[in-house]
Amino acid sequence: MTAPWVRGPEWGSRGLHQTGWVLLPLRVFLGVTFVFAALQKLANPPFFDASSPASVEAQMRAVAPTSPIGPLVELSLHAGWLVGLVIALGELAVGVGTLLGLRARLAAAGGMLLAFSFFLTVSWTTSPYYYGADIVFLLAWTPFVAVGAAGVLSVDSFLAERRRPPGGDAARAATLGRRALVSAAVGSACLAGLTALLGRALHAATPVPRAAAGGGADQRSSGPRDHPANQPSPHPAGRPPPGMQAVTDVASVGIGQGVRFSDPATGQPAWLIRSGARRYDAFSAVCTHAGCTVNYDPPSKQFVCPCHGGTYSASDGRVLGGPPPSPLARIKVALSGKKVYAR
Ligand code: FES
Repeated sequence: MTAPWVRGPEWGSRGLHQTGWVLLPLRVFLGVTFVFAALQKLANPPFFDASSPASVEAQMRAVAPTSPIGPLVELSLHAGWLVGLVIALGELAVGVGTLLGLRARLAAAGGMLLAFSFFLTVSWTTSPYYYGADIVFLLAWTPFVAVGAAGVLSVDSFLAERRRPPGGDAARAATLGRRALVSAAVGSACLAGLTALLGRALHAATPVPRAAAGGGADQRSSGPRDHPANQPSPHPAGRPPPGMQAVTDVASVGIGQGVRFSDPATGQPAWLIRSGARRYDAFSAVCTHAGCTVNYDPPSKQFVCPCHGGTYSASDGRVLGGPPPSPLARIKVALSGKKVYAR
């Protein structure tokens, strides 16, 4: 006889049952990852702090101009912290449901919806597309939307068995199922606790810019600020330099401040930073890790990627921390008259 939490009545087919076991490693991975992602957000106060460059609001503001659902993202900005909370709790529900096999198909549909929303926002500008993880998660959920837990290690199966008429086998199965349910709950609680501890440890080990942490700037070398190669090219006053487009007025950006613009060469988001009276630097705002749009944090003079915490120097674009593999691309700038130009 097969225990009910292993094979419920609705999964009578042997082939489907085997599929459940084959899918189990992927199911555990997705469940653990979503629980981990949720706890990482819930244990990270800057994620809910609108003034932090690592907040969900900062991320939404950054992706809105390039996302196909940008207007919806901008509308949601009025309650950005609530969006962050819904995402975190949604990830938690999806992860726990998947691990326990509880409403497994619904949990998978929720996971798919979350991954799709991330794909349309944070991963939309990732190029090539396969560098972004969200499209992989989106597709990884599809078998679970179709078959759920397939009757393997599943609370759904246990509950279905409980609903069957009482009998010898059913009584024994219910006893076994109760044990399985308790074991699964205890295991999930332990897993959630471990994940929370790991999330906190990771958060504590990650250098956070001052604006995100609320104090204690991580001071680093300011880079080759006065290198002649970094100085804007001089041009006759008032005449636009050939092939360049005006970004902003000289006077409209304070020293130490930055302004977002679209890179004239690619149309992608970029940052212009004024670091001196007549010194301007411009960089692509596209993170070299997975293509999220980085934010500028004036107190720390760093670019901060809201997706995975990558940080870059705002003086030369070099990587200061996190997963980005290479610096931000520099964009050529020039001063002419009262305007700053870029190409
Ligand atoms: S996209 Fe991963 S750190 Fe920026």
